[in-house]
Amino acid sequence: MKRAGVIAKAIAAGLMALALSSAVAQGTKPAQPASSAQATSYAQRFASLCASCHGANGRSDMAGTPVLAGQHSFYAITQLFLFREGRRDNPAMTAVAKTMTDADLRGFSDYIATLPAVPAPPVATPPDAARMSRGQALAQEHRCVICHGADLSGGQQVPRIGQQHEDYLQLTLHGFRTGKRPGYTQAMGEAVSRIPPEDLDTLAYFVARFPGAPAKPPPK
Ligand code: HEC
Ligand code: HEC
Repeated sequence: MKRAGVIAKAIAAGLMALALSSAVAQGTKPAQPASSAQATSYAQRFASLCASCHGANGRSDMAGTPVLAGQHSFYAITQLFLFREGRRDNPAMTAVAKTMTDADLRGFSDYIATLPAVPAPPVATPPDAARMSRGQALAQEHRCVICHGADLSGGQQVPRIGQQHEDYLQLTLHGFRTGKRPGYTQAMGEAVSRIPPEDLDTLAYFVARFPGAPAKPPPK
């Protein structure tokens, strides 16, 4: 089956990414468990360098700025790596990441993984039911749930997306479609290449308002 082949290929690529990301994480030094002093220092560095945009608890409320709370360490490290190398292009993040050492990529990613998922604040207007069910159907049809999980919480190098900000989801899904945002793997480029732009907007609408409980602590 063609679809199954594509998914198998994407998973193989994902495993490759995983191996690469631990190589990145370990850098030239042998792997060492982070000491609690190191962990504290990344908590402090996050508070002083990152929280102004991403929020002290990782749930940003700034336009275009993704929620990091509940995100996985493997995913975070692949993205910090892409920003550092200038492959994922965003002036704010490139400026932040370009001086990071391999140990910093690991330290910030491990710290992000300790931030528990925070539910989106309640909104006054209930979601449009027709648009939500259309979004849900699209997420099934395009197999978003196969990789991101039925509860959209992701895992390992696949990001948590449920209740991410809608403006950021829109930007990033269109970015994958046009190639402006290169993935660490081909998974997303292939997943969205044939989805019409208006359906990407419907997916962003649905994913941002996904009703699942995101409170599950992120796996390390
Ligand atoms: C000036 C605001 C700003 C600061 C400061 C900042 N970020 Fe970001 N960050 C962003 C924006 C905006 C994006 C989304 C970029 C894009 O659209 O490609 C982002 C994306 C990310 C992502 C990818 C998230 C995802 O879901 O793909 C990670 C990880 C991240 N930032 C970590 C950090 C860390 C760690 C720090 C501190 C060392 C930091 N950021 C500081 C604005 C900021
Ligand atoms: C074959 C597995 C796979 C499928 C299918 C898939 N994704 Fe992804 N998705 C990934 C991976 C892996 C990433 C990390 C991107 C990278 O490689 O840099 C990702 C990243 C994303 C991101 C970026 C999150 C962030 O914080 O920046 C969004 C949004 C997303 N996917 C939504 C979707 C939607 C919506 C669908 C269905 C149309 C979908 N994905 C289908 C594997 C998949």
